[in-house]
Amino acid sequence: MSADTTKKFLQNIKKHRESKKVEKFSGFLEDYLQIVEKDTNISILAHKRLYNQLLSQGVTTLDESNDRCSKIFDGESVKVYHYFSNHFFGMERSLEKIMRFFHSAAMKGEESRQVLLLLGPVGAGKSALVEHIKGALEQCDPIYKLEGCPINEEPLHLIPRSLRAKFQKLYNIPIEGDLCPVCRHRLLNDLDGDYTQFPIEQVSYSVRGRIGVGVVPPMDPNTQDTSLLIGSEDISKLDLYPEDDPRVLSLNGAFNVGNRGIVEFVEVFKNEIEFLHTMITATQEKSVPSPGKQAMIYFDGVILAHCNEAEWNKFKSEHTNEAILDRIVRVNVPYCLEYDEEVKIYKKLLDRSDYNYHIAPHTLEVAAMFAVLSRLKTSNKVDPLTKMKIYNGEEIVEKGNIKKVDIKDLREEVEDEGMTGISTRFVMKAIDAALADSTKNMITPISIRDALIKQVKDQITNSDERKFCLEHLQKTLHEEYLVLLEKEITKAFVTAYDEQAESLFNNYLDHAEAYVNNTKVKDHVTKEDMEPDEKFLMSIEEQIGIKGSAKNNFRADISSYMFAKLRRGEVIDWRSYGPLREAVENKLVSSVRDISRIITKSKSRDVKQKKKFNAMVQTLINDYGYNEDSAEEVIKFASNNLWRDS
Ligand SMILES: Nc1ncnc2c1ncn2[C@@H]1O[C@H](COP(=O)(O)OP(=O)(O)OP(=O)(O)O)[C@@H](O)[C@H]1O
Ligand SMILES: [Mg+2]
Repeated sequence: MSADTTKKFLQNIKKHRESKKVEKFSGFLEDYLQIVEKDTNISILAHKRLYNQLLSQGVTTLDESNDRCSKIFDGESVKVYHYFSNHFFGMERSLEKIMRFFHSAAMKGEESRQVLLLLGPVGAGKSALVEHIKGALEQCDPIYKLEGCPINEEPLHLIPRSLRAKFQKLYNIPIEGDLCPVCRHRLLNDLDGDYTQFPIEQVSYSVRGRIGVGVVPPMDPNTQDTSLLIGSEDISKLDLYPEDDPRVLSLNGAFNVGNRGIVEFVEVFKNEIEFLHTMITATQEKSVPSPGKQAMIYFDGVILAHCNEAEWNKFKSEHTNEAILDRIVRVNVPYCLEYDEEVKIYKKLLDRSDYNYHIAPHTLEVAAMFAVLSRLKTSNKVDPLTKMKIYNGEEIVEKGNIKKVDIKDLREEVEDEGMTGISTRFVMKAIDAALADSTKNMITPISIRDALIKQVKDQITNSDERKFCLEHLQKTLHEEYLVLLEKEITKAFVTAYDEQAESLFNNYLDHAEAYVNNTKVKDHVTKEDMEPDEKFLMSIEEQIGIKGSAKNNFRADISSYMFAKLRRGEVIDWRSYGPLREAVENKLVSSVRDISRIITKSKSRDVKQKKKFNAMVQTLINDYGYNEDSAEEVIKFASNNLWRDS
């Protein structure tokens, strides 16, 4: 810190204070009417205000031209709302449903009289979503309200019933709701009924200030008290005023402070049913009871609730709860089932912590793969690992062909996928544990797997579940990681890997095309025409198990695939076509496999071997993102676990 840090910061404080000094409106009905005349959005209801705000950062539609759309969403277009992207990953479908709810509610459809319930397993992001939605409210412009009104009442409520039809005709704005008892008392007693003299002010939404946001935590049945929802009568004031005087009211319940904004019910079904009746009236009648003997109080707000599946199932099974069930729009918030997106969640959460550490390549992927595997339901069509990869939008190459498995079929095979399994929090705890155990301030796929195994043994008590998780960690992922690692180390032995791959690819295409069209290949150097090199073609094809007459189809498929791509003006490279990419990769890797095995495993390397080994380590560090320690760890792991049979 420099000597004038405080001085600098004080300047920031000054600026901040000045920016807050913007004059807030204060006036009367006449002034307010002029404002509304200019901008009718000033007096919109809560659902619409929130919906507009959530939309204000824009929305993009992913269509077929997008890779994720065609692979993950099976070609069905999907909307991406910018307010949520960069914060939430792999939950586009749930977000779409949430936004659909707000849209209909904003149009005053039935949804405006319903509770939005987010239902999902622990740690799926329900609370985080609700927080984010409340955050949108805070970004709204300040709203106008009757001065001093405990429920931030809309000033248009001042307009008497007899004038409302006229108002609606002139302004094209319907007015809903009447004055709350507190404002009504003030109008009649202090202002002699002259509603043109009722002061109007502005106020900004604030989660912490409980302005426009009311939160209802789960209550234990013994202390459950409706005052939490609708306020109470202030006993100390009962001496001053008669019992039915609105001045004794303390309108500080969640439905009072959340008027014109949001009321949130945390773990909603932990509450007793009686407690939830206010929720029904609030949705259906758009009003809530007032404490004491006053009339019902108009309520305009979004009711958001969340809970997990066990509570929901219990609640749903009691038929006496039907009245409430009928007023709920449920949106499932399942776990993420795309491991690339799951990795982004971990990165987001890790970015928030203060640690300074190294994360070796594939570490978060391995953790995410485990999480996703634990969440998938068994398929009759493919094994779990394949299913996981298809859900991640990967091509599965089998005998030279891209395996044709429809992601939609896999999804339709099971119900409610993603509602069980390992939570994000579970993985984050394992990452923390692996970090805490590390003497080198790093995490690697090896240490994260160990930490996960330990945690599964410690924390998962259901023996089937535990067995299932351990099998994935100790077998499926162990093997999958070894494949990854072998490829990576061997690749690091190939100098200028990409260039070599590209050149193999180009050669293959030249020769395959000539073979298919029955033409000759021009030698790049001698410019002589020559026959397609059958031996070379086969040496590539055999890498992915193409034998005999299957080669004819493969060569023809590739030639037309590439030709079609070129005709569309797309660029092709060695990665363009899954099966050929794999063949080229395998060919390169196998060309150095023996030497890489010998050099990696050997305890005493001669000068030439040492040079090659060091070059490989440098490639791991410079090109693949390892550091010295993590490279050393994975190489050691590879020499102990790989190439066992040889
Ligand atoms: N798909 C996701 N995208 C981004 N972040 C996520 C996602 N899923 C979970 N998270 C993060 O994981 C953490 C835990 O989520 P959160 O507390 O919101 O879960 P929850 O569903 O409310 O769980 P609980 O039922 O235990 O209350 C949060 O920090 C959240 O941001
Ligand atoms: Mg929560």
